[in-house]
Amino acid sequence: MEVLVAGGIGYIGSHTCVKMIESGMQPIIVDSLLNAKVEVLSRIEALTGKKPIFYQGDIRDEIFLDMVFRSHKIQSVLHFAGLKSVSESVLEPLRYYDNNVNGSLVLIRSMRKAGVKSIVFSSSAVVYGHSDVMPVTESFLTGMTTNPYACTKYIVERCLTDLFASESDWSITLLRYFNPVGAHPSGVIGEDPKGIPSNLMPIITQVAIGRREYLSVFGNDYPTPDGTGIRDYIHIMDLVEGHVVALESISGKSGLRVYNLGTGKGFSVFEMIEIFNQVCGVRIPYQICQRRLGDIAECWANPEKAKHDLGWTAKRSMIEIMEDTWRWQLKNPDGY
Ligand code: NAD
Ligand code: WQD
Repeated sequence: MEVLVAGGIGYIGSHTCVKMIESGMQPIIVDSLLNAKVEVLSRIEALTGKKPIFYQGDIRDEIFLDMVFRSHKIQSVLHFAGLKSVSESVLEPLRYYDNNVNGSLVLIRSMRKAGVKSIVFSSSAVVYGHSDVMPVTESFLTGMTTNPYACTKYIVERCLTDLFASESDWSITLLRYFNPVGAHPSGVIGEDPKGIPSNLMPIITQVAIGRREYLSVFGNDYPTPDGTGIRDYIHIMDLVEGHVVALESISGKSGLRVYNLGTGKGFSVFEMIEIFNQVCGVRIPYQICQRRLGDIAECWANPEKAKHDLGWTAKRSMIEIMEDTWRWQLKNPDGY
């Protein structure tokens, strides 16, 4: 099966391509290299023995996309291509709407012209906004978003939902990720954030490797057992297996489906620091700071729907998450 992987050089896309090749699928990668390095292709080849077909280009370039669709027998699209920083989106909202929303519209239009009507979209738990009830299920209200990035995810979900309402032969899968972390167990590929990372896990490993002095803990006065924020951290390999299962079981079958991809278990910032200390043997110096604007106290998934419909469940432990992240960081102290 040939699958166009938009944003396939990035963190989640690259791990997914490895899993796809291992499962006998042929990824056709389209990536502008806006937030990725071409070296990733050689790493995918090192792991799988196959170099994926790669087109450097922007999904907002319709002529380019039409050419890619004409050149292959693509059956389905995995859509990872997007900008993903909440703080950056507040500073540059138009850039985010243009890249994420406009980019998705162009991609969907090009798919339609090519007669490819099967898409798996990388959405996020951010579409739920603030919720007082945990765990979060797919039926919770979406759209009460608190920043432009989250809003782009919600808008693309709506576009695809409205498209399905008017053309019911589409196969549309919206995957709402919780907090993807970790790396391939080989340490050959992993997360390589450009500039200063804003997510917890890359910051912990950068402190551990000496690239940063300490971790700023954003608030210890939340209404949680130890006062720090709680999130549902999912191992990247579990997350990508969710995509491959989705492709295998539902792509090509018309329908609109929405799934949370999370573990169903939350960890606090202090717990994350402590487990990292124990598993990797490195102490993480930290300082308690003000709460980060827009942060919520806790968020974790109810992943039962994906288990019921797809037979998918996150299997890897927090210990594996820490071990694999640390292996990647040690082998690649400066990233790719
Ligand atoms: P990433 O930045 O590592 O990967 C995204 C890739 O898309 C990059 O390789 C980038 O170069 C490419 N890209 C961006 N805009 C493009 C465009 N217009 N045309 C072509 N290529 C383009 O991010 P990631 O962590 O792998 O995330 C993948 C997707 O999952 C994103 O859409 C993100 O919003 C979503 N998501 C990520 C997380 C997370 O925590 N990592 C959580 C929820 C959802
Ligand atoms: C986790 C916890 C922080 C950094 C973000 C995006 C979201 C999603 C995933 C894409 C929180 C605390 C963090 C630090 C800290 N991506 N923290 N010090 O906030 O759940 O979600 O990433 O869709 O869009 O908003 O993840 O990793 O930033 O934070 O104390 O330096 O760690 O307050 O409790 P978050 P995160």
